[in-house]
Amino acid sequence: MSEFWKGRRVLITGASGFLGAWLARLLLERGAEVRGFDLATGVCLAAHGLDGRLPIAHGSVLDLAALERALRDQGTEVCFHLAGQSMIEGAAAGAVAALDVNIRGTWTVLEACRRAGPLRGVVCASSNHAYGPQRTAPFAEEASMNQLDVYGASKACADILARCFATSFDMPVVAVRNVNSFGPGDPHTSHIVTGSVLALLRGEAPVIRSDGSPMKAYLHARDTMTAYLLLGEHAGEPGVRGEAFNVTPAAPVRVRDLVRTLIAVAGKAGVEPVVAATDLSQKDFFEHLSGEKLERVLGWTPTLSLEAGLADTYRWYAEHGTAWIGRGRHA
Ligand SMILES: NC(=O)c1ccc[n+]([C@@H]2O[C@H](COP(=O)([O-])OP(=O)(O)OC[C@H]3O[C@@H](n4cnc5c(N)ncnc54)[C@H](O)[C@@H]3O)[C@@H](O)[C@H]2O)c1
Repeated sequence: MSEFWKGRRVLITGASGFLGAWLARLLLERGAEVRGFDLATGVCLAAHGLDGRLPIAHGSVLDLAALERALRDQGTEVCFHLAGQSMIEGAAAGAVAALDVNIRGTWTVLEACRRAGPLRGVVCASSNHAYGPQRTAPFAEEASMNQLDVYGASKACADILARCFATSFDMPVVAVRNVNSFGPGDPHTSHIVTGSVLALLRGEAPVIRSDGSPMKAYLHARDTMTAYLLLGEHAGEPGVRGEAFNVTPAAPVRVRDLVRTLIAVAGKAGVEPVVAATDLSQKDFFEHLSGEKLERVLGWTPTLSLEAGLADTYRWYAEHGTAWIGRGRHA
């Protein structure tokens, strides 16, 4: 394990969210001094036993002064920016708020880092979803960002802003286009893996809202966040600084096969997913990102196969249920 993070002062925006809490946990395991910046407290941190153990500055990423203060107070060396509207449906339902937090929130974080800096690294969450339809696959980082729904467009803008600040202000900023994450401590029960795990634990068949055809990649949150750590460590180096990186397993999977794999690793042979086909907005959706760049530049590959990641997730929910969600507090 790299010694880089030992004693390193790190600020995570969105630390109370699903991936932010995973990141906080992995950083604390590596000896970093971690603080969060979030509107809320607790929910996901509780899943890792970190509620009340991680200092959180409460505020909005739309508040430049509050961000700058949090960065300066801590003497932040590396900032991970994960806060925002992370749900495609949520962004569609509240477009202006989502565009505001994902776009203005990103430039506000970047500007706060510029003012409080120089920092060793700034890592911004972009998204796989920014790619949208492509002519060829797998999608390398040079592919255009074609997704024009509200969430996709907001993340494409955030991605460009991250690279803009790297170029315009010579900052060590990286944009991360990670695929769909799953794993312990995901409070978003509408996510297909979490929702399906919880259905199986209730003794019910998982329900697929689409027709099962969408092809996407899924990665355990631990693997997603080890990629963020690696990018944070090397953000200032040539070949990393100012770049965007995909974070993905080698191959995508159809949603119906994902759920069948989960059913198999959960030992629920005989259960068949219910294909509700009530949401056909992603019918025949095809997404296949290339992980070649991150492997070539920093040697990152996932450590968990899809089966192993799903088995770990199922075991965790079987043990913890959703009671941890109730333990979280909101500011
Ligand atoms: N989860 C995934 O599969 C996935 C995939 C690709 C990209 N991403 C991106 O990664 C990031 C983290 O995703 P997640 O799944 O942890 O999301 P999440 O919804 O679980 O967490 C987001 C956090 O941001 C906080 N937040 C929202 N608005 C804020 C504001 N104005 N000021 C401060 N904090 C605010 C929320 O309180 C929450 O704690 C997001 O930017 C998301 O778009 C996620």
